Amino acid sequence: MIEIKNLKKAFGSKIVLDGVDMVIPHGETMCIIGKSGCGKSVLLKQIVGLLTPDEGSIAVDGQDILSLNKNEMFELRQQIGFVFQGAALFDSYNVFENAVIGMYEHGVKDINLLEEEAKRVLSAVGLLPDISEKNTSNFEKEWNILSNKKPSDLSGGMKKRVGVARALVGNPKYIFYDEPTTGLDPVTSEQIDDLVLDLANRFKVTSIVITHDIFSVYKVANNVILLNNGLVQFTGTADDLKKSSDPVVQEFILRYNK
Ligand SMILES: Nc1ncnc2c1ncn2[C@@H]1O[C@H](COP(=O)(O)OP(=O)(O)O)[C@@H](O)[C@H]1O
Ligand SMILES: [Mg+2]
Repeated sequence: MIEIKNLKKAFGSKIVLDGVDMVIPHGETMCIIGKSGCGKSVLLKQIVGLLTPDEGSIAVDGQDILSLNKNEMFELRQQIGFVFQGAALFDSYNVFENAVIGMYEHGVKDINLLEEEAKRVLSAVGLLPDISEKNTSNFEKEWNILSNKKPSDLSGGMKKRVGVARALVGNPKYIFYDEPTTGLDPVTSEQIDDLVLDLANRFKVTSIVITHDIFSVYKVANNVILLNNGLVQFTGTADDLKKSSDPVVQEFILRYNK
C-alpha cells in the first residue's frame, strides 16, 4: 500500500504539487489524470526517490521513504517497476539487452540467469509464447528472432511491451506506468490497456497508471485521481468520475473524449 500525505513540490517559484493526499491499497490500479504539466510525472518520481518532496510524507508498505538510507532505498526500488514515458529503450541494444539491462547493471552477469529472466518477462508481456512452452523448439525459435531485434525493428506497441517487460524484471510488487498509451493508435492503446489489466490480475501487482486517455481510465482503473492546480481535484472510481458534476472533471472528460 502507498500512502501519500500533504505532498508539496515546487521548482523555484513554480508550485507543482501543493498538498496532495492519496492512498493506493494493495492490489489496486490507480489512474492519475490531469492536464499536461500538472505534476503527474513529478508525483511518480517522488515515490521512487528520483525527486525529493519539499514537504509531506510518502509511505510504501508502512515505510516512510524519506527516512530510508541509500541501501534501504535500493531495496525498495527493487519492489517497484517503472515504465517510463516513451519506451526509453536503448537504440543500440537488442531486445534481450534492453529487457534485462537493470539486472545486469545491478551485478548479475550470468548469461543463463539473464536469459532466463528475459524469457520470463518477454513472455509475460506477450512478445513470446507462454512460458510453459519454454523448452519447446517453437519458443526457442521465437526467442532467437525477438531477442536479437533492435528497437528500430519494433512497432510502437512492441517497444512499449519491451518497456513493460523491463519493469517486470525481478517480480516487483508495484508497477508504475507513465503514459503507457501516449503516441499509440487506438487499437494498440487498447492492447496495452489489456496488458496492464492482465499483469495486475496475474501478478497481483499494485499499479499506478498516469494517463491522458479517458478510455484507459474506464478500462483499467479501480480508482482515479484528477490533479489540478497542485491539488487532488477528484478522487473516486472511474464510474464516479463519469457521473461527476464537477466542472473541472467534466472539462477534462470532454477534452480527452476524442
Ligand atoms: N526537474 C525539474 N526541474 C524543473 N522543473 C520541472 C522538473 N520536472 C518537472 N518540472 C516542471 O514541473 C511541472 C510538472 O511536470 P510533470 O510532472 O512532468 O508534468 P506532467 O503532469 O505532464 O507529467 C512542469 O511545469 C515541468 O516543467
Ligand atoms: Mg508526464
